[in-house]
Amino acid sequence: MVVKAVIPAAGYGTRNLPVSKAVPKEMFPICGKPALHYIVDEAVAAGIREILIVVSRGKNAILDYFDRAPELEQHLQAQGKSDVAEQLAMPDVHIQYVRQPEALGLGMALKLAQPFVGQDPFALLLPDDLLTDNAVTLKRMIRAFKVYRRPVIGIKTVEDETLLRNYGVIRGTPITTGMTRIEEIVEKPVDKPPSNMAVIGRYVLPAEIFAFIHKDKRGAGGEIQLTDALQEWLETAELYGMNIKSPSYDISKMEDYLALQNYYLNREGGIR
Ligand code: G1P
Repeated sequence: MVVKAVIPAAGYGTRNLPVSKAVPKEMFPICGKPALHYIVDEAVAAGIREILIVVSRGKNAILDYFDRAPELEQHLQAQGKSDVAEQLAMPDVHIQYVRQPEALGLGMALKLAQPFVGQDPFALLLPDDLLTDNAVTLKRMIRAFKVYRRPVIGIKTVEDETLLRNYGVIRGTPITTGMTRIEEIVEKPVDKPPSNMAVIGRYVLPAEIFAFIHKDKRGAGGEIQLTDALQEWLETAELYGMNIKSPSYDISKMEDYLALQNYYLNREGGIR
């Protein structure tokens, strides 16, 4: 059973300055709800019961948001606005936090989750990447993990080759429809990407991953990269990629952020 999830939300949000100086990127509103709320909803819909969010200085809005607000609840009840008070309900899941003192990369953020993860497999959801498939992808990845008992990583074709330098990129062999055995994984290849299959921010990982994250091994951008840990691991064991069929939106890109707002505005049933 995969019931734990880690959500790293400690980055500076440099692509979204100046607003991210005061508003964490994970709190950017998507039709009135913060992006991170959609990520938590996705995790819960896929069966996750315990979440660890890795935060940093300046991210207290995240803790406030998922906390209860009893004064506000009472105020709304006293005013007879119980329908509005219902909007304060948060996802039914246990959330805890750890602070990352320095932005040293995804690998380092994940390392902080080791005591929370223990020996259990877990899902890792990067909150920049929003999927609009009601957790279908994450459920499929968890199912695949149960079969293979090996890391399952979300991947997607990126048509524009020049964009591949923004992603982890894999090379692999398709083994079944939608599943690929990964033979190489490179973080943000500057030139000659190994293919046009990029890593999108969904992973299901066994706890053994921590043995491959080395605090003294800096990778792309001078940071400790999860991708480098995965590359080291696949030299001795199998890793799998699962094709993400859902549309995905990287909310740190303005065009994706606006497109996602449009999606929720225009979808059948309106904003929920
Ligand atoms: C991270 C990962 C990268 C992955 C990307 C997906 O990079 O390191 O491998 O392709 O997320 O969004 P970041 O975007 O945090 O720099």
